[in-house]
Amino acid sequence: MMGLAGRGVLVSGGTSGIGLAAAQRFLEEGCRVYITGHEPDALAAALEKLGKRGEISGQVCDVSDHQQAIAAVEAADAAVGALTVVANNAGISWREPFLQQLEVAHWDRIMAVNLRGMFSVAQAAAQLLVRAGRAGSIINMASTNALGGEEDYAHYNSSKGGVLQLTRSMAVELGPYGIRVNAICPGYIDTPLNQTIAGGLPGDFAQRYANERIPLRRVGNPEDVAAAYAFLASDDAAFVHGAVLAVDGGQVAVM
Ligand SMILES: NC(=O)c1ccc[n+]([C@@H]2O[C@H](COP(=O)([O-])OP(=O)(O)OC[C@H]3O[C@@H](n4cnc5c(N)ncnc54)[C@H](O)[C@@H]3O)[C@@H](O)[C@H]2O)c1
Repeated sequence: MMGLAGRGVLVSGGTSGIGLAAAQRFLEEGCRVYITGHEPDALAAALEKLGKRGEISGQVCDVSDHQQAIAAVEAADAAVGALTVVANNAGISWREPFLQQLEVAHWDRIMAVNLRGMFSVAQAAAQLLVRAGRAGSIINMASTNALGGEEDYAHYNSSKGGVLQLTRSMAVELGPYGIRVNAICPGYIDTPLNQTIAGGLPGDFAQRYANERIPLRRVGNPEDVAAAYAFLASDDAAFVHGAVLAVDGGQVAVM
């Protein structure tokens, strides 16, 4: 991708699934990369794996804690030299039927991680970039669940819908500073998150889902989404701003 080599990149939730693949892709593009994750063991394993590919460092961070998010952004900036790219990726999900089961505490947790956490990382990064007089690219992780209401995911759907409006709001305010802000909406991607969810369901849930709902007839892999992160971070996307990029095998094109 154009202009990516040498960039300083933060990938939040870079210890697993899509974030881990994104960190690897940014290393392959010649970036200096900093990852954060929620679990110390997963962070150590990811750093060891990615360390073979390039210049990588990271720390544990719970993005639902505003101060931890600010500290992680500042540590990333120090570690990578000059941070200019943020893959704002950390997120959680689980099924919970709206009518019978969805609890206020669970609603609050999803919002605290998926929406407020994304705001905390993004605001800290934007403030740092503006202070430093640096242009940059912030990519917020939404979902096809931001574009339609999947059953049993009212809490998750709502958090990701909020991410789209956060992205558009940031694009309006940060564009004049040369900070591009975009959102990615993956469909069904084969990651530990989805493997856990599908593990509790009968049969080959992923293949059935692909056959019934995805025109390309396969679920995505983390590398499919990592490529979108790399594109939106690069100079190839120099005029792409406030956009919503679906990476879903055509799922949202279905009527
Ligand atoms: N897998 C999919 O099908 C899919 C589809 C659309 C969007 N997404 C989104 O992509 C992102 C990554 O999902 P994934 O499937 O790779 O999941 P994953 O569970 O494999 O990875 C999640 C990452 O987020 C981190 N994380 C979780 N809670 C955190 C917290 N409180 N603070 C900081 N980090 C935290 C984890 O440490 C991990 O690194 C999420 O935002 C998810 O909502 C996933």
